[in-house]
Amino acid sequence: MRLKLIHNIMVLLDGKKTAKSLKDEIAKDVVQMIDNEIEAPHLVAILVGDDPASQTYVSAKEKACQSVGITSSIYRLPSKTTEEELLQTVDFLNNDKEVDGFIVQLPLPKHINEQRIIESIDPAKDVDGFHPVNVGKMALGIDAYLPATPAGIIELLKRYDIETEGKHCVVLGRSNIVGSPISIMMGQKKNPGNSTVTLCHSKTKNIKQIAASADILIVAIGKPEFVTADMVKPDAVVIDVGIHRVPSKKTKSGFKLIGDVKFDEVSKKASYITPVPGGVGPMTIAGLLANTLKAAKINRGIN
Ligand code: GUN
Repeated sequence: MRLKLIHNIMVLLDGKKTAKSLKDEIAKDVVQMIDNEIEAPHLVAILVGDDPASQTYVSAKEKACQSVGITSSIYRLPSKTTEEELLQTVDFLNNDKEVDGFIVQLPLPKHINEQRIIESIDPAKDVDGFHPVNVGKMALGIDAYLPATPAGIIELLKRYDIETEGKHCVVLGRSNIVGSPISIMMGQKKNPGNSTVTLCHSKTKNIKQIAASADILIVAIGKPEFVTADMVKPDAVVIDVGIHRVPSKKTKSGFKLIGDVKFDEVSKKASYITPVPGGVGPMTIAGLLANTLKAAKINRGIN
């Protein structure tokens, strides 16, 4: 008897739920530190200017810290802050023994050289993993602070036991924060990893065909609903890093959040897919908390 081939049932990669269990693990470690009369980890976020998205992200990070017992502070600086003033703030935090790790929320106002600021952060306190020392260590596969979004994606693949070895992983977007590091990590001799990686960007020819050849498609291109069903191989694993606030007549607020992937049609074709919101976003925040806990453990001599 011939059996009819049935497509896999799509599985939603629930970042919210996965991040919650990660946060529970972090909270347990923090409680143990406090029980042993060891100071809780302390994270500082520097926020320059009044970019609404950055304000939302920083508030979300602060809330997440509170939920796991990590002490958090926000340094709010006006948009007219000079590069020198910001460098002084970074220098202050580099030397503040009370602070385990800190981040400078990006993007910065145009008059500030972002790379110069990143390079001024002490790599030992760089819980974003953006300093060249941490980026270099990550690329070499040496223990380092990993950037939170790629680390969150790897953790999601791991916790859902998704096979990556020998698979064709296509990454759309080559940003320093997501596309570039995740393309390196997916090709490393690890699990998750061991994929054959193609990194696509604004100058890539035949991006649609390349995307459609992916077993694992990671989309961090910053364009709302860029990936349509015709760009996805049946049963592919689709990871959507995009987040865009767009007007909607269907919601009370008049807005909704969408990703870089056209979810309605792509979810019918994928084997696994991350929703927006509730996919990669919560995993990013959990990754930052994990790095802060790691910094605090190093500072207090706990392994
Ligand atoms: N802007 C967008 N994502 C990030 C992030 O992960 N860290 C920082 N510092 N800024 C960002």
